[in-house]
Amino acid sequence: LIASTTLTSFASAAMAADVPSPNQYYWPKGMNLAKLRAHDAESDPYGADYYTNYHKKFEQLNLQEVRKDIEKVMLTSQPWWPADYGNYGPFFIRMAWHNAGTYRAIDGRGGEEGAQQRFAQLNDWPDNASLDKAKRLLWPVKKKYGEKLSWGDLIVLTGDVALNQMGFKTLGFVGGRPDDWQSELIYWGPGTTFFPNKSSFQVGQNGTLKHPLAATHMGLIYVNPEGPNGDPDPAKSAQMIRLAFGRMAMNDEETVALIAGGHTFGKAHGAHPNSCLSGPPVANGVEHQGLGWVDHCIKGKQTADDASTSGLEGSWSADPIHFTTQYIDNLLNNDWVLGTSPTGAHQWHTKTDDKIAPDPANPNDPSKMRPIMMFTTDIALKNDPVYHKILARWAEHPNEFADAFARAWFKLVVRDMGPKSRYFGSEVPKETFVWQDPINMPAKPINQADVRELRKLIAATGLSDRELIKTAWAAASSHRVTDHRGGANGGRLALMPQNGWAVNDPEELKTILPKLEKVRDSFNAHSARKVALADIIVLGGSVGIEDAAKKAGVKIQVPFAPGRGDATQDQTDVNSFNLLEPTADAFRNYYRADADNTPPLNALVDKADTLGLTIPEMTVLLGGLRTLDINTGHSANGVLTKNPGVLSTDFFTNVLTMDTRWEKAAGQEDLYEGFDRASGQKQWTATDVDLVFGANPELRAVAEVYASNDGKAKFYNDFVKAWTKVMNLDRFDLQR
Ligand code: HEM
Repeated sequence: LIASTTLTSFASAAMAADVPSPNQYYWPKGMNLAKLRAHDAESDPYGADYYTNYHKKFEQLNLQEVRKDIEKVMLTSQPWWPADYGNYGPFFIRMAWHNAGTYRAIDGRGGEEGAQQRFAQLNDWPDNASLDKAKRLLWPVKKKYGEKLSWGDLIVLTGDVALNQMGFKTLGFVGGRPDDWQSELIYWGPGTTFFPNKSSFQVGQNGTLKHPLAATHMGLIYVNPEGPNGDPDPAKSAQMIRLAFGRMAMNDEETVALIAGGHTFGKAHGAHPNSCLSGPPVANGVEHQGLGWVDHCIKGKQTADDASTSGLEGSWSADPIHFTTQYIDNLLNNDWVLGTSPTGAHQWHTKTDDKIAPDPANPNDPSKMRPIMMFTTDIALKNDPVYHKILARWAEHPNEFADAFARAWFKLVVRDMGPKSRYFGSEVPKETFVWQDPINMPAKPINQADVRELRKLIAATGLSDRELIKTAWAAASSHRVTDHRGGANGGRLALMPQNGWAVNDPEELKTILPKLEKVRDSFNAHSARKVALADIIVLGGSVGIEDAAKKAGVKIQVPFAPGRGDATQDQTDVNSFNLLEPTADAFRNYYRADADNTPPLNALVDKADTLGLTIPEMTVLLGGLRTLDINTGHSANGVLTKNPGVLSTDFFTNVLTMDTRWEKAAGQEDLYEGFDRASGQKQWTATDVDLVFGANPELRAVAEVYASNDGKAKFYNDFVKAWTKVMNLDRFDLQR
């Protein structure tokens, strides 16, 4: 198998090359704000409007023409990486699957969007071996369409073309994935070594995998084909598959459909031992032009028989470039015996080892036929009673298998794009799925005159500014930019499970929401244009903030864009929404120590990151919200003002002043008490996520901007902008 590289060896290489090292190199436990810098558009060569512009450009594409170009590449074997059976289709499917398979339902990170597979570290993971060549094969197509076709869309479309060309009908193709321009900082696991090093295994003794991880090994997209940590035990392997695919949001049927559908095509590659291969792209010299795993054992002209990737060898089917039910039939109808690949990896072969599969370099030569094989993970599907039952049903009903694979594949490659309003192109399937978190839009939306009336109705409910603001925040801040789920749109704050989340103070919410629902109902009763609860919740936030600023003698306008809809409980998959429940929300000074074992400061950065906030946005929002007194449980922690409920810069001035002496509160984790230095009187309580704005030099630098005598106007301006950004995170219609 592919050589494992220690992560720290990359770090030392950086040191040796006289490049500056990040502070984390010297103080690994220090706060790392780097993730938030990625939310600035500066590194994007197409500029700040790329996101909106990309969609417009993409819609100009003639998808049929692009499909033809991809197909041509697929069927034209290149001497520098010859195609198996003259068709790169299976290779391209693996590329698309691996780009999608990093998706983690728990935090929404990973997935097709952004095409992170282009960058270290994903590009260099042992599991992505050889896929550097797949992307390079596609460069002529990318080059032709440039800005109109992102890598993210190209990779998915290529998978679709491959499946179609080999006789499989997919549900359709969805475009609209703008590219990333840098490697995203994602916590992939605690491991300091990559697969197949034994210490890369991330699953605990009792089968647990730390939140939010989904891959069982550092450097693998999902599970080890040979079995957990190389143990060829099909029963244990099934447990790993269920765990990893479950974290990818796939149920048992979807999991079997994907594996059986995928391994219908192509083959595994293990022509030469691992010692023949160079390191991954990132560790190779510039003369290799970004390609890795160079095979030094190939002498003379390279053929398709020379490829080494996983170290396993062979195909699952006797017809690996056509969609058939052979994978299922071969798996179920043969007795499989454990053996090894030419490079010594565990794999399974039939008792008779009949030579029924074509040779990749000479597919039409009957004298070169080869036996088929299975991985331990394939045998696991036959061995597990639940998976087996599904396979047996599909062996009888191949159409059901094809339908299940089409649906699971569509979900796989689209799942991280969020709701349907983010889909682009002429090939979007009409059908709606519950995993798309559907929303019902009012047929006739409200206009600005209606908004004026609604503002008055909201003010007349008697709800306090605090209640209005915290409700709007609870709704909108459930959004995560990682997979574009959650948010105010849909009005799901009033539905299960969101209405019961501890962070939302469910008991208080029960008294607030009926009043806002009443506003909706009384308005809708007399108006031809209809308003959704989601709009009223967000508008309530604007009304509350404007009033809270007025109390400070400042007149501000919080922009409000109507146009949201409401969802029903039936349209809300409770299990899947459970994953969005915040275990920490520093903006409401909420932290559940039991939850993920993520320290509060990391949780602060993580929450800001999932809201797509920059460092100044995070700072101004947190400081402003503290003075608005919207903490969960109405706690006073960090409410560093004598006038709670008045929007002001008090948090910043009071966290920076030297007049206060802070010390840890006795017997309480993560709680501090602030004493007036002159009188010795206790003045405040605060948590880590409050005091860090005085303690961390970079956050202090931003806090100083707002605490300065000339910082007030900027504070109100920036607060409103950041607030509006969060309220509209899920308003993809405004970006179209
Ligand atoms: C090939 C592992 C699931 C599609 C391979 C290879 C390995 C592997 C080790 C050989 C790579 C090489 O040496 O070239 C696994 C495991 C899975 C899994 C452990 C889950 C338990 C899937 C899924 C799909 C898929 C869900 C797609 C829906 C493919 C294809 C190939 C392949 C098309 C052939 C690539 C080629 O011919 O170049 N898989 N895979 N696999 N896999 Fe999977």
